[in-house]
Amino acid sequence: MTAPAQETFPPPPELARSAAEAGEHAERAAADRLGFWGDRARELLTWETGFEEVLDWSAAPFARWYTGGRLNACVNAVDRHVAAGLGDRVAFHWVGEPGDTRTITYSQLHEQVQRAAGALEALGVQPGDRVAIYLPMVSEAIVAMLACARVGAPHSVVFSGFSAEALRTRIEDAGARVVITADGAFRRGAAAPLKPAVDAALAAGAPSVEHVLVVRRTEGEVAWTEGRDVWWHDALEAAPATHEAQAFDAEHPLFILYTSGTTGKPKGILHTTGGYLTQAAHTHRTVFDLHPETDVYWCGADVGWVTGHTYIVYGPLLNAATSVVYEGTPNTPHEGRWWEIVQQYGVSILYTAPTTVRTFMKWGEQVPARYDLSSLRLLGSVGEPINPEAWRWYRRNIGGDRTPVVDTWWQTETGGIMISPLPGVTTLKPGSAQTPLPGISAEVVDDEGAVLAADGAETTGYLVLTEPWPGMLRGIWGDEQRYRDTYWSRFPGRYFAGDGARRDADGDIWLLGRVDDVMNVSGHRISTTEVESALVSHPAVAEAAVVGAADETTGQGIVAFVILRGGAGEGGGAGDVADLPQALRQHVATQISPIAKPRSVLVVDELPKTRSGKIMRRLLRDVAEDRAVGDVTTLADATVMGRISAGLRAAPGED
Ligand code: WTA
Repeated sequence: MTAPAQETFPPPPELARSAAEAGEHAERAAADRLGFWGDRARELLTWETGFEEVLDWSAAPFARWYTGGRLNACVNAVDRHVAAGLGDRVAFHWVGEPGDTRTITYSQLHEQVQRAAGALEALGVQPGDRVAIYLPMVSEAIVAMLACARVGAPHSVVFSGFSAEALRTRIEDAGARVVITADGAFRRGAAAPLKPAVDAALAAGAPSVEHVLVVRRTEGEVAWTEGRDVWWHDALEAAPATHEAQAFDAEHPLFILYTSGTTGKPKGILHTTGGYLTQAAHTHRTVFDLHPETDVYWCGADVGWVTGHTYIVYGPLLNAATSVVYEGTPNTPHEGRWWEIVQQYGVSILYTAPTTVRTFMKWGEQVPARYDLSSLRLLGSVGEPINPEAWRWYRRNIGGDRTPVVDTWWQTETGGIMISPLPGVTTLKPGSAQTPLPGISAEVVDDEGAVLAADGAETTGYLVLTEPWPGMLRGIWGDEQRYRDTYWSRFPGRYFAGDGARRDADGDIWLLGRVDDVMNVSGHRISTTEVESALVSHPAVAEAAVVGAADETTGQGIVAFVILRGGAGEGGGAGDVADLPQALRQHVATQISPIAKPRSVLVVDELPKTRSGKIMRRLLRDVAEDRAVGDVTTLADATVMGRISAGLRAAPGED
């Protein structure tokens, strides 16, 4: 039997501008890569002082882009558009979950960021100070980020679904001086308190914090610490209406964003100003074929993740785009909420994650079919490999069988999109991120780092980035060695992304998922070690091993194997053993976040280990995915897997 022919989708002819631009970029970048990035930085950003050198790579792997240049990120995102006469253009159509809406023009945004910047300065925030932002998807989250950028205080946004404990460790690691939060948040049709998590985090540590700015959203009761806590609206009202922004060095830190690595401690990924902004603006314009005068763009991410940073805040605003921002969950109050919003605002570009697409698939195509989605002309995907079936469903049921779907590969560390089709020129293949963007250099290499041929035969290996790029991370906050070890030691001189990849005979790249101990659950990176340490912090657990098992909706689901302490579950205080899986799932939610909750917790007597004591997750994954268990020859005790599988069959530990 021969393999079915690859299904392809040629670019629509109406994307001619994009096609022309992409052609020019490809040519320019091939002839002079750094010259190309220099041009883009000048074309897309307004510099108070021009840069002298595009890239200084002399201290590799610590890059300096656009050396000598000075600019202000907030001025680039807001002020200059107002100055150019675009003050009345809508920056955000914000939609609250309960149905309230806010229309924020560039002029209004300008006023808010100036006041918020003044408010931060009044609380003593200086350039270089860190500010933690722990907010739901309210428009103040965007204003807060921009205000930090305006005063040169790197923001550290912590996803509002994280627990008090996860928040505390992140605030402490960054040494934040101020925390910006809200009284509560609307999600799944109800108001949930948020500030208590900040209060708990600060009660448990984080002595660097001097003030907490509190946005009023749900109007619930809040505990108040006099002298420390300040209402956001009071602080803004007290601040001057205008704020003179100063320019900062191109390498001034713009933000820290924590992401999971292969150890229990999250990494504070550091991004700086000039390079990050260049790549954010450039990719947002080219990959989404953005026409800021006419498009209505919607990225369904949360500002707590890098997609929210680059493609809700910085990219769209730098390009003077009009965006939709939605506060809540897609099925509140009904499963057609997103499509209702698309119809109402005439959304033309939609960017979301495969897990969301698969959730919509589960709800059925009759849901989007009830709405007029004809305004959509381009769809994007990010966060994990998109399976061809979901890709086709997305294009057919959301994109009316007309729209290109761009599958964009990138990471918190890369700052912006790296590998993606260009909608005006690329013939699309469902499930492939296809080619590195002009000016970006990626390869697929084998174990020894040898480049696998881009022509002829298909090859499978590791994805590496072979040249520095403007939006690249500048390090891990406070941990230079970990930066070198994690990204630059596996293949010296090249950046190791941690992803497996296949290159097909046409040279197109297909991402295969993580090759390290990082799971990808609904597009969220969660480390196995982080969940394991949360589990063993429970009094009933002696040992834990966690794997990501294939999951139809979320990409991967977390499956935990735990060994109980002697006495646990036998009236030893840990409760009934039958309730334990549920209690442990809850424990992980409290320690980390509900997003890290295991799908199932399986109680076992033993874990498969090598002679050196390393847990063989590969074998546990076989069990979790209900497959025949693979090669067990390196196990210290080859009978363990038989016992685990037999035990599970006898008492399936699913809850
Ligand atoms: C995965 C999200 C396949 C990948 C922007 C990467 C993808 C990790 C894709 C980064 C894609 C992201 N196809 N895999 N289009 N996009 N990934 O830091 O494993 O939250 O290393 O950044 O998500 O996740 P992060």
